[in-house]
Amino acid sequence: MPRFPAVPVSTETMWTIQLLALGVLVAAVPSEDKKLSDKANALADRSATLAFNLYHTMAKDKNMENILVSPVVVASSLGLVSLGGKAATASQAKAVLSADKLNDDYVHSGLSELLNEVSNSTARNVTWKIGNRLYGPSSISFADDFVKNSKKHYNYEHSKINFRDKRSALKSINEWASQTTNGKLPEVTKDVEKTDGALIVNAMFFKPHWDERFHHTMVDNRGFMVTRSFTVGVPMMHRTGLYNYFDDETEKLQIVEMPLAHKLSSMIFIMPNHVEPLERVEKLLTREQLKMWISKLKKRSVAISLPKVSLEVSHDLQKHLADLGLTEAIDKNKADLSKISGKKDLYLSNVFHAAALEWDTEGNPFDADIYGREEMRNPRLFYADHPFIFLIKDNKTNSILFIGRLDQLQSASQQTLDGK
Ligand SMILES: *[C@@H]1O[C@H](CO)[C@@H](O)[C@H](O)[C@H]1NC(C)=O
Ligand SMILES: *[C@@H]1O[C@H](CO)[C@@H](O)[C@H](O)[C@H]1NC(C)=O
Ligand SMILES: *[C@@H]1O[C@H](CO)[C@@H](O)[C@H](O)[C@H]1NC(C)=O
Repeated sequence: MPRFPAVPVSTETMWTIQLLALGVLVAAVPSEDKKLSDKANALADRSATLAFNLYHTMAKDKNMENILVSPVVVASSLGLVSLGGKAATASQAKAVLSADKLNDDYVHSGLSELLNEVSNSTARNVTWKIGNRLYGPSSISFADDFVKNSKKHYNYEHSKINFRDKRSALKSINEWASQTTNGKLPEVTKDVEKTDGALIVNAMFFKPHWDERFHHTMVDNRGFMVTRSFTVGVPMMHRTGLYNYFDDETEKLQIVEMPLAHKLSSMIFIMPNHVEPLERVEKLLTREQLKMWISKLKKRSVAISLPKVSLEVSHDLQKHLADLGLTEAIDKNKADLSKISGKKDLYLSNVFHAAALEWDTEGNPFDADIYGREEMRNPRLFYADHPFIFLIKDNKTNSILFIGRLDQLQSASQQTLDGK
C-alpha cells in the first residue's frame, strides 16, 4: 500500500516553484484539469480499499441478493461518525477507512474534496443525486459545531424523528429519499427495528451517461438467466463499438470497460462466461486482481448487450460495518457520539444506504463512420444475460464510485419492461 508523508507537500507548490525557475508564464488551468490535493488522493485510495473490504463482507451474507454501494459515500458516512464521535467510537470509524494514521482535519477535508469532485454532475456529465441525512431521536439537540461541519464536509442534513408513530416516521424517511432522487428511489426501508438511536440515511440516484450512446431503437426483450433453470424477461439494449476488453480464458470470464461521458469515469463489467453463482468470481475480486485485469484490457470491437433496467437496492450497512470493525458506535452501552449532541446519549442504530442505478441508452453521439472500418469486424460478444459484477471507477481519482452485482432481476424487470 502506498505511504503518505506525514506533512504532505502540495504538488501545486512544487509546480509553481519549477515554473518560476524556468521563467515560464502559465495561463489558468481549466477547472476539469485541476489537480486534486494530496489529501483527496489519499482518501480516494482509502475508499478504494474500503470498496473491496465492504463488498466481500456483504457478499458473505447468505441473504444478500443484488449489491449496490458507493464506497466514496460510505467513506463519507465513516467521516461523519468520526466527526461526531470521541475515543474508540471515532477512531474505529477512521480505522475502517484505513485512515487511523491520518489526522482528523486531513481526513474530513480530503473526503470532502473527493466527494465534490466525483459527484459534480456538470463536470462529469452523469446524473448523480446524493442525499445524506442523519436522523436523531426527538429528544436530541444537535450541537451547532457538528451541524455546521457535517454540512460543510459531508453535505449532511439533520433531522429529528419520532418513532412512536412508526408508520409516519417511515413515511417521512421514504418521502425524503424519493424527493432527493426525483422519485427514482421511492423507498429506503419498509421497517426500522431499533428506533432508539441515530440513523444515517444515504439516498442516491445514479444514471451513467455513456460516452457513446446506444441507439434507442436497439432495445428488445430477452431472457436474463438468474440461474440455469430460472429465466426472467428483461429489456436489453445492444450496441457494437470499440471498447477496452479482456477475455480471461484461465478464469473463464470477460471484462469490458465502458467509458462514461467525458471519459472521467467508466463502468467496468466482470462477467463469468456461463451462468454460475458469482461466488467463484467474487473470490478473485481484489484490488490487485482488478488492477491486473485492467492492465490487460485492449481496445477492440465488442458487441455489447446489457439489461436496460433500473436497479434499486437498499442496504442496512450497520452489521457489515461492524464486521469491518465499527463495533463501538453501534453499541448502545459503549458508543460515544457526544460531539453530535454534547452528551453521551446516542448510538448508531442504522446505516441505510440506498441507491437506484439506471442503465439506459442515453449518452453522447459518436462518429458513425467507424462502422465501415476493418477493426470493427468480428466483434467479441459481451452478452450480459446472467449475473455479473460491476464497478464504476473514477478515471481521475482512481476511487470507486459504485461497486455491485446484478444477481436477481425479477422486480427490476417488472418495473422497467420498456414502460409496458
Ligand atoms: C462543477 O464543475 C463545474 C465545471 O467544471 C464547475 O464550474 C463547478 O464549480 C463545479 N461545481 C462544484 C460544486 O464544485
Ligand atoms: C451530458 O452532455 C450532453 C451533451 O452535452 C447533454 O445533453 C446532457 O444533458 C448532459 N447530461 C448531464 C447529466 O450533464
Ligand atoms: C481516462 O482518461 C484519459 C485521459 O483523459 C483518457 O485518455 C482515457 O481514455 C480515459 N479512460 C477511460 C477508460 O475513459
